[in-house]
Amino acid sequence: MATTLAKAAEGTAVEQTHAARIEHVSKSFSGPAGTQLVLDDVSLDVAPGEFVTLLGASGCGKSTLLNLVAGLDRPTQGSIATPGGRPALMFQEHALFPWLTAGKNIELALRLRGLPRAERRPEAERLLELVRLGGAYGKRVHELSGGMRQRVALARALAQDSQLLLMDEPFAALDAITRDVLHGELTRVWEETNLSVLFVTHNVREAVRLAQRVVLLSSRPGRVAKEWTVDIAQPRRIEDADVAELSLEITDHLRGEIRRHGQH
Ligand SMILES: Nc1ncnc2c1ncn2[C@@H]1O[C@H](COP(=O)(O)OP(=O)(O)O)[C@@H](O)[C@H]1O
Ligand SMILES: [Mg+2]
Repeated sequence: MATTLAKAAEGTAVEQTHAARIEHVSKSFSGPAGTQLVLDDVSLDVAPGEFVTLLGASGCGKSTLLNLVAGLDRPTQGSIATPGGRPALMFQEHALFPWLTAGKNIELALRLRGLPRAERRPEAERLLELVRLGGAYGKRVHELSGGMRQRVALARALAQDSQLLLMDEPFAALDAITRDVLHGELTRVWEETNLSVLFVTHNVREAVRLAQRVVLLSSRPGRVAKEWTVDIAQPRRIEDADVAELSLEITDHLRGEIRRHGQH
């Protein structure tokens, strides 16, 4: 696995061993009905350049964990480190600004990153090319299909130039064919960049289709139940026999988790 070099504060090059390190993280929420333990002692590393999917039933704490890695909330116990800096985030809802064009949505992220004004438009166009939306610079959000909006959202996430991309069920609202195409695009973009990806899904086949490693979270509270290394060459198809076979094995474990907790 490729490792990346980062400049330490004192100016010497140090080798990064992880893009994210989650150590003994627990998270509770307090409400009128008392305190709910959502994540219990979760430890997980994402290596530089690695693609990891975090799989689990609805409500098991996947989004909670991703938000903690994004720095949007703090763990109750344990620690999270992202040595490459602030991660980029992509959600199920594209969260693009509807009054801006596709290109301007991306340029806004470039501006926040501090890119000089003159470089923003060419960089936005390069990113749109990368997600195969070359002609969409001047298009408004309502003119774009759901799949195209998620491509723009991916380009905007890439505009942050982070080493770590966090994705929370980004394709869950798309139809199966569009999702299949975007799986291919995401795999290609990941291969062309040296991004690390932590991708959340409740869809077992999607997890296996994309990842080098699938991490299964149990429910109530969320714990790392088991993980699998996916040793299947890319490009994969969601209907490939070896993708289906591993998905079946993981689904059996997921069913066991759900039965054990009797929540569904
Ligand atoms: N801000 C919050 N306050 C209280 N409870 C929350 C909050 N965020 C999430 N939860 C609870 O944590 C649990 C896990 O939620 P979530 O992480 O969204 O699950 P998932 O993404 O796996 O579907 C749910 O029971 C949810 O109600
Ligand atoms: Mg969620």
